[in-house]
Amino acid sequence: MVLTSALRKFLLTLHVLSSLGWAGAVAVFVVLDIAALTGRDPQLGRILWLALQPAVWSLLVPLAFASLLTGVVLALGTAWGLFRHYWVLFKLVLTLIATVVLVLYTQTITTVAGMAADPAMSGMDLPSALLHTGGGLAVLLLITVLAVYKPQGMTRYGQRKRLERRKQSVS
Ligand code: HEM
Repeated sequence: MVLTSALRKFLLTLHVLSSLGWAGAVAVFVVLDIAALTGRDPQLGRILWLALQPAVWSLLVPLAFASLLTGVVLALGTAWGLFRHYWVLFKLVLTLIATVVLVLYTQTITTVAGMAADPAMSGMDLPSALLHTGGGLAVLLLITVLAVYKPQGMTRYGQRKRLERRKQSVS
């Protein structure tokens, strides 16, 4: 499958929007979490979990899947390939891990958001989500650096494919 230039640009636009939109949305929760931890307002801890609950299903998970899907289609539909360049492979693995952790974390979010909805519960007693939000943001930033710098290394499969293409163009 080879993408036409117009389709590639369209998909790349969707890919950048969904991927960096995902990172931006997570960054909001990192800031909220740090503000809650520094204890400026006891309500912040409650707001964090109550906001995470709808955001995770209506924003974070859809953006994660959109990023994964558009990334895979772009890789398969261009000369980059899915398994030819290490930077694409690393992006795939890191995005898959981030998506699986996010989906598993939805259970915790639902439980803690339920606790946060209880008016008898103080926001100060709720746990922090910083390990997940901060860790997730760090991984997404790393993936962005890989996407922009595109380090050169090729996998053995990629080298073999390149050799095959050269042989075909000579014969
Ligand atoms: C959160 C995860 C991701 C982020 C933040 C991200 C970010 C980006 C960005 C900013 C670009 C544009 C780079 C440029 O044009 O110079 C890009 C391009 C690209 N991404 Fe991703 N990406 C993510 C996930 C993935 C995944 C899972 C794959 C597939 C394995 C992938 C494959 C690609 C490919 C092949 C391109 C180049 C497309 C082209 O030039 O036509 N990305 N990505």
